[in-house]
Amino acid sequence: MIYVALPKGRLGEKVYNLLSSVGYSCKEYNDANRKLIFKDEENGVAYFWVKPSDVAIYVSQGTADIGVVGKDILEETSPDLYELLDLNIGKCSMCVAAKADFYDDYSKPLKVATKFTNCAKRYFDSIGRETEIIKLNGSIELAPILGMSDVIFDIVETGTTLKHNNLVVLEKVFPISTRLVANKAQYKFKKELILSLCEKLKGVIKL
Ligand code: PRP
Repeated sequence: MIYVALPKGRLGEKVYNLLSSVGYSCKEYNDANRKLIFKDEENGVAYFWVKPSDVAIYVSQGTADIGVVGKDILEETSPDLYELLDLNIGKCSMCVAAKADFYDDYSKPLKVATKFTNCAKRYFDSIGRETEIIKLNGSIELAPILGMSDVIFDIVETGTTLKHNNLVVLEKVFPISTRLVANKAQYKFKKELILSLCEKLKGVIKL
């Protein structure tokens, strides 16, 4: 049996479809259902639907053997697990963005609004820019518009949210995509099963 933590939502459904297409389907799976666990004894798989930011926790705790996590969360939380495969979906970028007329005043710390405080700190430290990091939980784009921050450090996918709020990208910091991850101990116990699943997935990943 392999236990899989999937992020609730569209991305998780995409990943379920990928896994299902390589033999890990669940007879009782139904995307309209709000059930959080689906098991298929015959195909030897159980799925847990968890909050996207919690997938790495279920996997590092060993409750799930494998899971699917965005590179943004891996970079931010540095969980103790193996990153096995880039699924080449959920693609976006971590960016610094600001109002179009932003001018950096180096005499003051740069006020940065973000959900990703560790990544932001690491990035601005690496370029030697002093910052004041303001942790927000969503609608990050509001902060520079209301004058609470100078810039934002956030995910840009289509660019629509920035555009609708008159913000522009100043710097693309790193690319993001969805990764297959595994618990370290379970990887040892179930190595053959997990590696065979990876090989099958490689055959259906769109590059
Ligand atoms: C994310 C991100 C941006 C937006 C980018 O927010 O924080 O706000 O998506 O996508 P776009 O470039 O396609 O417009 P999310 O939808 O997760 O909501 P949040 O504001 O609650 O973080």
